[in-house]
Amino acid sequence: MVARAWFPHELVGERVVLRRHTPANLPAFRRWYADPEVAHLTRYQGEPMRPDEVDRFFAARVLGPDSLAMAIHLRGGGRLIGTCALSGLDPDNGSALFHITIGEKDCWGKGYGSEATRLMLAHAFETLRLHRIGLSVFEFNERAIRAYRKIGFVVEGRAREAIWRDGRWWDEIMMSMLDREWAALRTGQTTVPSPSAEADAAGRPLAAPRRGGR
Ligand SMILES: CC(C)(COP(=O)(O)OP(=O)(O)OC[C@H]1O[C@@H](n2cnc3c(N)ncnc32)[C@H](O)[C@@H]1OP(=O)(O)O)[C@@H](O)C(=O)NCCC(=O)NCCS
Repeated sequence: MVARAWFPHELVGERVVLRRHTPANLPAFRRWYADPEVAHLTRYQGEPMRPDEVDRFFAARVLGPDSLAMAIHLRGGGRLIGTCALSGLDPDNGSALFHITIGEKDCWGKGYGSEATRLMLAHAFETLRLHRIGLSVFEFNERAIRAYRKIGFVVEGRAREAIWRDGRWWDEIMMSMLDREWAALRTGQTTVPSPSAEADAAGRPLAAPRRGGR
């Protein structure tokens, strides 16, 4: 359960602002999660959520105390474009899981998701003082993987062939960021993930281990 005090009033970025969800956002959720492409990218089941499933999800995981969910609005005009959340908040170990869905598809690939993610990470690390934020993403979700890497998430593992989609198996990729990595990014230092931890979508190390000196 997420303590009320953990919720920010709002998180303001350059182009997006994150606000608490209200019941008025439910019709947008119904529309987003009825979309086969959104379901394809976000659900373990290949099919979109049924309307009653969306309603239960919205009541429990969006408005309810199970997770720290925030609505993503464009700053200019306030259009509601998506949702993001921290779930599984574990104060003992300082960890949580991150989730994000930009439901308005015309808003994909414009940097809004990355900005919303950075706002949530700033809240998680700098206000809540969490130690670790994890997430999982399907191997075929190249846009999301690219965005998460750009933000600074590191691949830490993969559940092999966890997803059956489009007639074949795909891995589920686990990524995470630690508080010290966030701090280094904020201060402009570069973090160097260990090659064994950071692997590309095919499982190959991204950076070849250095052999010998220069
Ligand atoms: C994943 C998501 C949150 C990313 O947010 P976004 O605002 O679209 O992402 P950004 O624009 O910040 O970054 C996307 C990056 O992927 C690139 N990209 C866009 N479309 C792409 C595609 N089809 N394949 C690969 N890369 C793509 C963009 O060029 C950008 O990289 P760049 O900044 O280096 O040019 C958003 O697209 C989304 O919600 N998608 C649907 C639901 C989903 O997949 N949720 C995540 C589940 S783990």
